[in-house]
Amino acid sequence: MSGNLVVALLLLLPIRQALAQPKETPEEGIPVTNQLVIDKCSACHKRDEKGNLSRISWERTTPEGWELAIKRMVRLNGLSLTPEEARQIVRYLSTYHGLAPEEAKPAMYQAERRIQDETPPNDFTKEACMVCHTYGRVISWRRSKEEWDLLTKMHIGYFPVIETQGFRRPPQPPNAPPPPPGTDTRDNVERAVEFLAKTFPLHTPEWAAWRAGMRAPKLAGRWLVSSTQIGRGRIYGEMVIEPTANPDEFTTNAKLVQVKNGTTSTRSGRAVLYAGYAWRGRSTSSDSDDAKQAREVMMVARDQSQIEGRWFWGGYDEFGVDVTLRRAGSDPVVFGVDRLALKTGSTGERIEIYGDNLPTGLAPTDLDLGSGVTIKRILNQSARSLSVEVDVAQDALVGKRDVAVRRAVATGAFALYDKIDYIKVHPGDAMARLGGSGHPKGYQQFEAIAYNRGPDNKPNTADDVSLGPVDATWSMEEFYAVYGDDDKDFVGTLSPTGLFTPAGEGPNPKRKFGRNNYGDVWVVATYQPKDAPSDAKPLTARGYLVVTIPLYVRWDQPEVAE
Ligand code: HEC
Ligand code: HEC
Repeated sequence: MSGNLVVALLLLLPIRQALAQPKETPEEGIPVTNQLVIDKCSACHKRDEKGNLSRISWERTTPEGWELAIKRMVRLNGLSLTPEEARQIVRYLSTYHGLAPEEAKPAMYQAERRIQDETPPNDFTKEACMVCHTYGRVISWRRSKEEWDLLTKMHIGYFPVIETQGFRRPPQPPNAPPPPPGTDTRDNVERAVEFLAKTFPLHTPEWAAWRAGMRAPKLAGRWLVSSTQIGRGRIYGEMVIEPTANPDEFTTNAKLVQVKNGTTSTRSGRAVLYAGYAWRGRSTSSDSDDAKQAREVMMVARDQSQIEGRWFWGGYDEFGVDVTLRRAGSDPVVFGVDRLALKTGSTGERIEIYGDNLPTGLAPTDLDLGSGVTIKRILNQSARSLSVEVDVAQDALVGKRDVAVRRAVATGAFALYDKIDYIKVHPGDAMARLGGSGHPKGYQQFEAIAYNRGPDNKPNTADDVSLGPVDATWSMEEFYAVYGDDDKDFVGTLSPTGLFTPAGEGPNPKRKFGRNNYGDVWVVATYQPKDAPSDAKPLTARGYLVVTIPLYVRWDQPEVAE
């Protein structure tokens, strides 16, 4: 949308109303006490005798939420800020007009940039609010009823088409039968505002409790990293967090090891902690396969013993690592083992147990890998890892096992299985985006996960046991939607490790009708278990991949961590 057009639309907005104080029985606001916010915002957002700034004092949200709103103030409403002022304002508002961790948690996928199917809360909110952006954006806010209402007015001001598209009920033909008695005939938007105001109010017990108990985070020290990345499996290591002159800012240095192949890398970065728990950082990896810069969105547990979230990168944030950090202490800790599954009846298997502060001088009786697994010998031991040789009983029960080194336990660390019954492609539905000239490519990494049918002897039931990723071979097949369009020859390429790289954007003269390279295909994994009989048919599975055009308009703000 061009700037002039937006300004013109903005004039449609009842600005006086948009910036006025609430009229009827106003809810208590949250006073703004930060001088910079008062200086920068009160020219338009009127300050009352209690220190409330109109609009701002009746809203709370995440760092991403504040950033989006403030950017619009700059872009459309004529606010001017230096980058440093913007950072300070986002920091203050995200902390003192923020969300409690319990409120932020259900919306974390929004900040973590995960692709997630959203369950609409009801039809009218779905129709009014879930057509342009995620519901995650909506549930990232808490507001007074008046503010939920003004938000919808802001939308109408900027996007008048919204009125007829999702906000209003479609007009009924004059001779339509009357709706059944008791039908709510109000417009979607009106019902949505009522619903949102009730579900996501400004004042909540969670926020009151969090606000009162908020502490300056003491995160400096050594943290243990356990993480997983699609296509790479588990990555373990440690991260040292160091304080800076600013109590809510930290620097980080991590050393990481891919369990699958022992590849090591380092990562160093910087992070800001908002509201005592919301970690937003940026780090740079030494791994040449990764894009250099990742963003880090994590949540610090209230007792500050654990930090959890996602590190991600890529033109569409499509590459990511699911990360858990645990504060390192002097107690022994077990992360897990170097494989996710062991076959029943196998003997002399060598496995590696990873941990921290593992005691020395251990005997096989100090270890326990669950029923059916006998520890024959300890081959090697250090504070970080143990190599052991094990036998697995032929008649051991199939299922997950814990790994215990004395009293340190990793639960469900691996599974015993008698047979790989099937594999699945993960993700089962995926999307990639053409690009490379004017726009970034949107990649997609696939992996094949092996499963055992579980105790009920039936595959594809709830008791099936996941055996983790296996090294499948990859290919693409045509998804027959349009006859003769040969999508699989045009959409892109799939690497031997399951990484899909999309083709370039724009019309392709080699293609029928000079079409774009978009299309949809099946991504097929084929896997032959090592011990399968030589005449056995390999296991196959497929996932559905849509390769679409670049995202020309972005509705999000990725710079919070800066
Ligand atoms: C030059 C005038 C101007 C300044 C300065 C200004 N705003 Fe606004 N603000 C507006 C207008 C106009 C609206 C209503 C339209 C809109 O939401 O874009 C608004 C609305 C808002 C809203 C409500 C948005 C919503 O989602 O309901 C927030 C929050 C906000 N401003 C925050 C700020 C903050 C924080 C500052 C200071 C850093 C600021 N504004 C400075 C003009 C201004
Ligand atoms: C026509 C598409 C569209 C629909 C429908 C829509 N939104 Fe939005 N919404 C947007 C866009 C675009 C923005 C970002 C505006 C900007 O800052 O540039 C936005 C921003 C927001 C924000 C951030 C507020 C801020 O101050 O930046 C919230 C919260 C929100 N929408 C909630 C809703 C709710 C609730 C509904 C349903 C009542 C809804 N949206 C329906 C397009 C839409």
